Amino acid sequence: MITEPAPAKINLALHVRARRADGYHELETLFAFVADGDVLTFAPGPASFAVTGPFADSLAGEGDNLVLRAARGFADAFGVAAEGAWVLDKRLPVASGIGGGSADAAAALRALARLHGVGLDDPRLFAVADALGSDVPACLLGRAALGTGRGEQLVPLDDLPPLPALLVNPLVAVSTGPVFRAWDGVDRGPIAEGATLARALAGRNDLEPPARSIAPVIGAVVARLQATGPLIARMSGSGATCFALYEEEAARTAAVAAIRAAAPDWWCLETRLA
Ligand code: C5P
Repeated sequence: MITEPAPAKINLALHVRARRADGYHELETLFAFVADGDVLTFAPGPASFAVTGPFADSLAGEGDNLVLRAARGFADAFGVAAEGAWVLDKRLPVASGIGGGSADAAAALRALARLHGVGLDDPRLFAVADALGSDVPACLLGRAALGTGRGEQLVPLDDLPPLPALLVNPLVAVSTGPVFRAWDGVDRGPIAEGATLARALAGRNDLEPPARSIAPVIGAVVARLQATGPLIARMSGSGATCFALYEEEAARTAAVAAIRAAAPDWWCLETRLA
């Protein structure tokens, strides 16, 4: 049996530069990963797929999970049988801007690559990832990177310090497509050059205003995080999960206590940059 972590991704900054003719948007984004996420296990043998964990119900009735699509993509690309028993421990809220489904798909590709002796940097593996979704290549890489194009063209960045991080989701599922479609079309400029954290601090998430127009509670989440004195507090991806990074563990601990007291229904994850 292979156990493969599927860590949550956060977009430290996400600048939308242009609408494309193919319906996608040209991005510049700083991808980072945290130490926690979903966990996927795989055992070769008869095909099955089970979901456990706190957010298992959110996937009930979903037809074709990205994990199974990833396995089919791998089998087709490498000419191998990729059947087996998958168990997905769904610890991250779904449709929440932290890569859940993309992270799971990337974890499936990593598990199968290990099993079949395929290098994790094999371009064919990235081609399979690319076909599964814009964030899957970044999740396959699994380290801080600058993403351009749809987010699939990646340049690795220096490792980030393991800063304490807090992820907060108001448990409102937000679909990515409608958020991009609600973007106002204004190019607010590139991500600054420099050290990764400085670039993040000087950046923004251009999807935050359109996401807030769809789910206004996101504004309240960012405001609550800002009030805890973080280095940075921002929405991730197309929302609704927001994150904050802190210099000290104690500040993060105090922040989560304050947010749990003010908004007991929100999902909070205490973690750190990976
Ligand atoms: O690539 P993926 O299937 O994850 O994207 C989901 C949706 O998000 C796309 O159908 C598109 O509407 C939107 N999207 C976009 N520009 C990107 C990435 C995603 O418009 N760079």
